[in-house]
Amino acid sequence: MPVAKMPQAKEYLRRMRERLTDDKVSHCVFTAEYLSSFAPSLGIDHDESVTAGLLHDFCRDLSKEEMLEQARYYRLPLSESQMQKPSLLHGPVSAEVCKQEFGVSEDVYQAIYWHTTGRPGLEMLGQALYVADFAEPTRKFHEAAQAREIVRRKGFDDAVLYVAEMKLAFCRNKEVIDPNTQAFLIWLKTRKQAQNTTPSRP
Ligand SMILES: [Fe+2]
Ligand SMILES: [Fe+2]
Repeated sequence: MPVAKMPQAKEYLRRMRERLTDDKVSHCVFTAEYLSSFAPSLGIDHDESVTAGLLHDFCRDLSKEEMLEQARYYRLPLSESQMQKPSLLHGPVSAEVCKQEFGVSEDVYQAIYWHTTGRPGLEMLGQALYVADFAEPTRKFHEAAQAREIVRRKGFDDAVLYVAEMKLAFCRNKEVIDPNTQAFLIWLKTRKQAQNTTPSRP
């Protein structure tokens, strides 16, 4: 079902255009479209997937100072890496602002909050947004196409593990790594091992 069919989509888009560049609005629309294309197969509600996709970068264009100011206003815990690189806070800050301004559900709040780094135990909508944000079809890097291919051919669990591995590999070239990025990958690997060692039913 197209994004535009979601009842609040028009209002979300109007508000997004007030604060995001055209490129970012386009990225969010493609994230919502892509996410909602595979969400039903994971048992995720269509409107929840569209809301998370559209709003996940709602505060992405705040300046460093504004980001830190908002984080303090919402009393968010600030890690050393977020202090060094305030853009890492755009997920948590977007989640708080969207909860306050649009009354998004707890699942959408959690998905937006953790969409950049993931975290151990992340719910299915959060994992789906994590993959869709990385792999939406206008992403130019070849790993995005690879991730979409894995979603199609091997399944979602393999795709989220692949995306987490690629994100950590990208981070290794940067000066600041959020510890949740690593913790999420370890959690996914442990889950995969547990799935592989679970005896199949006779
Ligand atoms: Fe983001
Ligand atoms: Fe994004």
